[in-house]
Order: sequence, then C-alpha cells, then structure tokens
Amino acid sequence: MATKLLGIDVGTGGTRAVLLDEAGRVWGAATAEHVPMASPELGWAEQDPRDWWRATCVAVAECLTEAGATGAEVSAVGLSGQMHGLVLLDAAGEVLRPALIWCDQRTEEECRAITARVGAKRLIELTANPALTGFTLPKIWWVRAHEPEIWSRVRSIMLPKDYVRFKLTGTRATDVADASGTLLFDVVNRRWSVEMLKASDLKAEILPEVFESPETSGRMSKEGAEASGLREGTPVVAGAGDQAAGAVGMGIVEPGNVSATIGTSGVVFAATSSPVVEPKGRIHTFCHAIPGRWHVMGVTQGAGLSLRWFRDQFGGGASYDGLMKEAAKVPASADGLLWAPYLMGERTPHLDPNARGALVGLTAQHTRAHVIRAILEGVAFSLRDTLTIFRELSVPVKSIRLGGGGARSSLWQQIQSDIYGMTVDLVAAEEGAAYGAALLAGVGAGVWRSVEAACGTAVHVAKRVEPIRKNVELMNRRYEEYRKLYPALRTIGYKN
Ligand code: XUL
Repeated sequence: MATKLLGIDVGTGGTRAVLLDEAGRVWGAATAEHVPMASPELGWAEQDPRDWWRATCVAVAECLTEAGATGAEVSAVGLSGQMHGLVLLDAAGEVLRPALIWCDQRTEEECRAITARVGAKRLIELTANPALTGFTLPKIWWVRAHEPEIWSRVRSIMLPKDYVRFKLTGTRATDVADASGTLLFDVVNRRWSVEMLKASDLKAEILPEVFESPETSGRMSKEGAEASGLREGTPVVAGAGDQAAGAVGMGIVEPGNVSATIGTSGVVFAATSSPVVEPKGRIHTFCHAIPGRWHVMGVTQGAGLSLRWFRDQFGGGASYDGLMKEAAKVPASADGLLWAPYLMGERTPHLDPNARGALVGLTAQHTRAHVIRAILEGVAFSLRDTLTIFRELSVPVKSIRLGGGGARSSLWQQIQSDIYGMTVDLVAAEEGAAYGAALLAGVGAGVWRSVEAACGTAVHVAKRVEPIRKNVELMNRRYEEYRKLYPALRTIGYKN
C-alpha cells in the first residue's frame, strides 16, 4: 500500500477512523465511543469537545493497528463530523463550556429573534436557509443572552470536527459544506456573510478560516502528532460536514445522483450544479464538498430512531434482524396501519420542533409485526416527502443510492424502492462519512485530480433493487393517506 489516506468522522455516538489506499480499499477502520450526550434540560443536547479529541486519538490508534500501519506512513488526513454544533474557546484555546450539538432544540426564541431582525426573506437570500433551532447561529445568540460571563471570554467559535483539526494542527479552519449549516454563511458565494455577522453583532475574527473541502487547511503540529501518533507536517484537508462527506463516500457527486440514508435521522441528499433555494426553507441548501457544486437535502429527525425506540420499548430483547424477519411476514401497507415518525419533532417538510409521532389505523387484527412494518414504511414515506419537494423544485433524481441502517436490511431496501417508485442501488463497502473524508484527503494529496475522479475509482454499485409494480401502486395510494397525518395531528394539543 503506497499511499495511505486517513479519514476521521467525529459523529454523535463515536468517532470513526478509516484508512484507505489509492484504489479506495479499506485497510483499517475503528470507532471509539463518545460519552453519551448530556441533556441537562428537556430538549438540550450537549457534548464535551475534549471527549471528541480523546476518541479521535483512540480511533486513529486502533485503525492504524488494524491496518498494520504506522502514523508516519499516512500521506494525508481528511476530517468530517456532526454538523451545526457550537464549540466555544477562550484566548488560550481552552473549551469554555460543553458544545451545544446539532439536535439541541433550546433556541426557538432565538430563531424568532434572528428572523425578526434580518427578515425571513432576506435571511434566505443571505444564507439560503431559514433560522432553525439546530443551526449554530441561534446557539450563539442563546449563550450570549443566557451565559454572558462565558460569552465575554469567547475568542473563537468552531464546529465539532474543526475542534479536532485545531488540536491536530493548531489552525482554526472549516470547510464550505459544514459552514453552510451555521446560518452565518453566504452559501451562494461560498464565504462568510458580512451582513449576517453585522446583524448578529459578531466580529469576523471569531470565525475560522473557510476552505473548499479538498484543500489543505493546515499541517500536523508537533503536539497534534505526539497525541495522535501521526507524523508532524502531515497535511490535513478541510473535509466536510458528515452529510456532504457521506455523500462523497457514496459517489453522490453529479446532478441527478441522490442518496437516501437512514441513520438515527434520515437524509435524502441531491448534488446540484447551482444553489437551489427552497423559498420556504423546507429543505437545506448547502455547499457540496466539491468546488463549484451545491447540494439540497431533506432531514427526517426520527428515522432509524423510530425503529430503535420500538426495539427498546417493545422489542422484548429482539435484535434488529429479528424485528425485520417478523415484519417481512406482513404484506405491504401493513394492512392499513400508518406510522408518523415525528418522535423528535420534524424538519422536512414541516419545520416543526413540536410535531409528535403517531400510529394510526389500529384494529384488533394487527400484530406486533404490523407495527414494525408500519414503522419501516412510515420512515420511507417521510423520506419520500423530500423527493416530492425535489420534484417541485425540478431537482433531477436519476438514481437513488441507499446508505446507513436502511441499506443493510433487504426488507427496508425493498420498502424504499417500492415507496420511492424507483430502482435503488447499494454501494460496495459503504463506510460512511469517514470514507468520504479520506477520499477528500486523497484529492488534496494529489492522488486523484478531482472528487469525481476519486469516486470513479473508489465507489462501486454492488446491488440493485427493483420496485415491485403492484406495491408501487399500493404505496402511492398509502402515501396520499400518510400526507394527511401531520395536518390532522397538528390540531391535537398535547399539553395538560
Ligand atoms: C445535518 C444534521 C445531522 C448532523 C448529525 O443537517 O443535522 O446529520 O450532522 O450527524
């Protein structure tokens, strides 16, 4: 293995490191778990950035051991990570408080205040997106209003993976894809928005320098090298937020390429050749990890989470495999049972942090297996909502590649194909965002001349699943019923 490329993904549950060669073959991979996120109050979600750094060092060491490689052999490093989180550092580069992460929902009031100050229409013109509770800027407003003493000591802010970069290289840098989720970024022109900084009374010095994803953002410092076992001077490319990096890892690079990834959340992602802005902000418009490309994506908050919730509460110790086998015995449409997956509020298409989940249409004939199948279908209906918006916006969908947990079960593959009404593809060795980050490192190191070329070499379709015609017709009818759930549920008050 001549050239070794290391990708690091600072996720929510853990940090994953993957080592590739110049053919895209995986030589080693390891994940180090994080301390579970803290929720000091309902709707809050916090993690200690120092734990991400600890997990990075563990994952890198284990990955190198598995590959039988030394840190000195790594030619370039690429970073990826959970998006939108707010890391606050003082003048000495010390962490001032736990990071508020992507799923933190405490900022409804700040979102209203930002929208009122900038104007809803202008906000979309400036940043291509509306103010959403998970985004970074409302979190900055919250800390400034509620923790003024901490805020007075803040000298720099950064996104989760960029704290790991800071520890590795000593540089304060980010990439265009991750910066897009801050609400401080001019997504159309790929630079920080001076007007948004001004509207927020923030100085530009507080922000990291922004790079295109395959560009070198810094080099391994002596301290970073000692802690991580990598070589001093190794280039670290900018990398990307986990969705854009994961898309690169699945070869979603050209307009028409779309992925549907079911992890805890569910994301339908399309590469575009220009920024496609949705006037209501129901989908996100962000820069892609490819220079001169953008992407749109819709997010279902409670996708894989719906199944995990069912398994933990009602699974009786069954594994995911066991639940899938049970659900496979029930016909498509689960004999009329419908699942609304709004267990954590919803982003696409409702933008409603207070949306609630529901199981609708129960009869005494329904069994546990029907409920499982209804959950699998409900999640896929929710992802289809994003495809519906893509159609309204004329975003082309030529092929759909599946990723995450939704790609690992043959039943969920078939359900997705039937509900999207399209052939779906599965890529070989789907390794997620760390893999995409390693490909970006390879582009930065000159192994491939472009991200497209990297994907052309490294990413291959391993399986195709065709939709079953009679199920497609049935699912089209059920989708119309599914779409009536949210408006009906919204009329119900949940407070005592
Ligand atoms: C993207 C998003 C999540 C996080 C966590 O908008 O919120 O995908 O990046 O992984």
